Amino acid sequence: MPHADSHLTARDLLDFIDASPSPWHAVATCESRLRAAGYQALDEDARWSLQAGGRYFVTRGGSSIIAFVVGSAPLAGRGLTLIGAHTDSPGLRIKPKPADATGGMIRLGVEVYGGPILATFADRDLSLAGRVAIRTGGGIESRLLRFDAPLLRLPNLAIHMNREVNEAGLKFNKQTELPLLLGIAGDDGAERRFRALIATALDVAPDDLLTWELAAYDTQKGTLWGADSEFIADSQLDNLASCHAALSALLATREPEQTCLVAFFDHEEVGSESAAGAGGSFLGDVLARLAGTFGLDDEDRRRMLAGSFFISADMAHGWHPNFPAAYEPCHHALVNTGPVIKSNANQRYSTTAETAARFMALCERAGVPCQQYAHRTDLGCGSTIGPIVAAQLGIPSVDVGSPMWAMHSIRESAGVLDHGYMIAAMSAAFAS
Ligand code: CO
Repeated sequence: MPHADSHLTARDLLDFIDASPSPWHAVATCESRLRAAGYQALDEDARWSLQAGGRYFVTRGGSSIIAFVVGSAPLAGRGLTLIGAHTDSPGLRIKPKPADATGGMIRLGVEVYGGPILATFADRDLSLAGRVAIRTGGGIESRLLRFDAPLLRLPNLAIHMNREVNEAGLKFNKQTELPLLLGIAGDDGAERRFRALIATALDVAPDDLLTWELAAYDTQKGTLWGADSEFIADSQLDNLASCHAALSALLATREPEQTCLVAFFDHEEVGSESAAGAGGSFLGDVLARLAGTFGLDDEDRRRMLAGSFFISADMAHGWHPNFPAAYEPCHHALVNTGPVIKSNANQRYSTTAETAARFMALCERAGVPCQQYAHRTDLGCGSTIGPIVAAQLGIPSVDVGSPMWAMHSIRESAGVLDHGYMIAAMSAAFAS
């Protein structure tokens, strides 16, 4: 049975996710926890002067964030311990001019972001969250927006019109069958009604709404489940669970010798190629400025990178007893059995024997079990930010994650114990 502490940690994770219905909200949630712990905000467009022992964070694009505590040991001698994760999750994004009235119903057109299991979005109590650009007296402002009440729905087609659904699966044409139902179109027109809804929520004039990035999110809160409440279910476990674990480990780190850093990137689910994504310059820029502000020359900056260690944390595929044929028989990652080290000879994961061994040693030091995962050879393997960061910065890297079920469903599930284990392993990394 899970320890009471692991239930508290799991509940804190669910609160973290429920406060973070979009990548922009996830960064705001991290920011408020960092500020509460005394971390100081840095601006990318201001000059930085950092102190040894100082705690800082910086955001890019509103949806990626890097936080770090400067250790007492010299950067060039010891390097940094870095943990990376991603703030985005696959799903449905509202188009810039989404509203149409079809048969008297207002529908919102969506784009498919990344690779969600679309069928899981049907019949959920969906709402809207993201950010909106508005015109103000002083120029342009970006505001977070979240509707708490269910606002949208993708009702299933009745089985009487879709007789093969249980044999053929639930399929949607992405253009014509995914638009989300919002309401009955009145005389005002669909677009005006939609804009008025947003303007009212933000308390601005409809004409001052410029545009938005909005996601459909599931309003159902996260929950514990199972005979001993040993499992959790929520949206966005991939990968807000890894963000929460790394942030919790960082916030618990007091006066470290080594400089400790967490980096949470947007756009992983669509390939990371963006200004704020892991394929952009954000982490490299922060490391260069960190080195610069402490007076490291080019030689010492390279020594700093060579001495660093990057842990790429992203969720892993937990073994599902109903689908044994989907898994590599010798590499079952069992839920509630500890962090998973992910390996792939084709470098879809950044793990090497040397970095895997380092992570195994961290788990041992933390007193937590760990597991090894390889994908079936006859199935395509996913990837992570691990290989991207490793290639850009030349830092030794390992790919790890907690085992979970139903990755990319709108309602994913995982183990209570694994989350505590992961935080313990990451804390050991920051303490080394
Ligand atoms: Co992921």
